[in-house]
Amino acid sequence: MELKGNGHNARYVSVKAMIITIGFFVTATPALGEPEAYTYGKAVIAHRGAPGYLPEHTLESYAMAYGQGADYLEPDLMLTKDGVPIALHDRTLNATTNVAEVFPDRARDDDRHYAIDFTLDEIKQLAVRERVYPASGELVYPDRFPNTHEELVFRVATLAELIELVQGMNHATGRNVGIYPETKASSWHADQGYDFERKLMDVLTEYGYESASDPVIVQSFEAESLQRLRELGCELRLVQLIGGGPSADPMVTPEGLDEIAEYADGIGPSISRIIDSAGEVVDDNALITGAHARDLVVHPWTVRTDRLPDHADSTEALLERLLFDLGADGVFIDQPDAAVAFLRERAER
Ligand code: G3P
Ligand code: CA
Repeated sequence: MELKGNGHNARYVSVKAMIITIGFFVTATPALGEPEAYTYGKAVIAHRGAPGYLPEHTLESYAMAYGQGADYLEPDLMLTKDGVPIALHDRTLNATTNVAEVFPDRARDDDRHYAIDFTLDEIKQLAVRERVYPASGELVYPDRFPNTHEELVFRVATLAELIELVQGMNHATGRNVGIYPETKASSWHADQGYDFERKLMDVLTEYGYESASDPVIVQSFEAESLQRLRELGCELRLVQLIGGGPSADPMVTPEGLDEIAEYADGIGPSISRIIDSAGEVVDDNALITGAHARDLVVHPWTVRTDRLPDHADSTEALLERLLFDLGADGVFIDQPDAAVAFLRERAER
């Protein structure tokens, strides 16, 4: 993992150090997260909205997550042909929209329809559906929102629409819910000729998200994407995602965490990096303790109440273990209400 340090990063680190110092003396809070800003001390991150109840990445799903009390709303981002950031997990539209019916002749050789090949106007013609396996059409989560509706149409949301939704609801409720956007496939977008980070920065700046104290955290699996944001002058908080596969192993070493701490404010590891498939704590919890020692917050992913890992007896048991026994600072979850209820009940005990 090569770092591309520059003058901005140095300035950012010194500002960050000042914030840490002030925070330590005034409130003793860590660099990122400001737990008192979370309703119950740990960040409830609504993973793709509230997809346990409404199709992922739709404004309806985000509104539900907001109403359930999430602290952050998470959109994965892809770009359209005309360079607009949209809320979408896959590079292709096939698993979550009716693109193959609306544009039957626009697939690439692999028979998939790539979002980057469609303008926003075209993508807005699509109906979003609950996630399916494209080959069979079977629902990935059969007990979630069904695809039986005929009159009801969900649309693909842009990042700007999500921000306007959140900022409007913040104005109306007096809350300060944040957004947690992820640059998906940044290097792939670069290969297609797009400066993903610039496009993201343009939208965030337009809506006033500019400093580390603003309610936004940008995340990516690609270190280069986060470093590119720093090169562009981004002072927002950044989180380095860490997958469960061997390619990300270098990131969980002490040296890897040292490098991450140079450009990021936190890590977002797969739960499997903390608790293995047998239910054992990985490496004596070295990842969380090592991250905290470097002022990095830890936001693991993804809790799904309807798809718990075999080692978890219940959602509450998994959350208790991650957030309190092992010390994670928040969690990505498909059912934000479950995490909010767990934290509320625990706080009231
Ligand atoms: O961003 C955290 C988590 O969502 C990463 O996995 O594939 O759901 O984006 P994915
Ligand atoms: Ca994500």
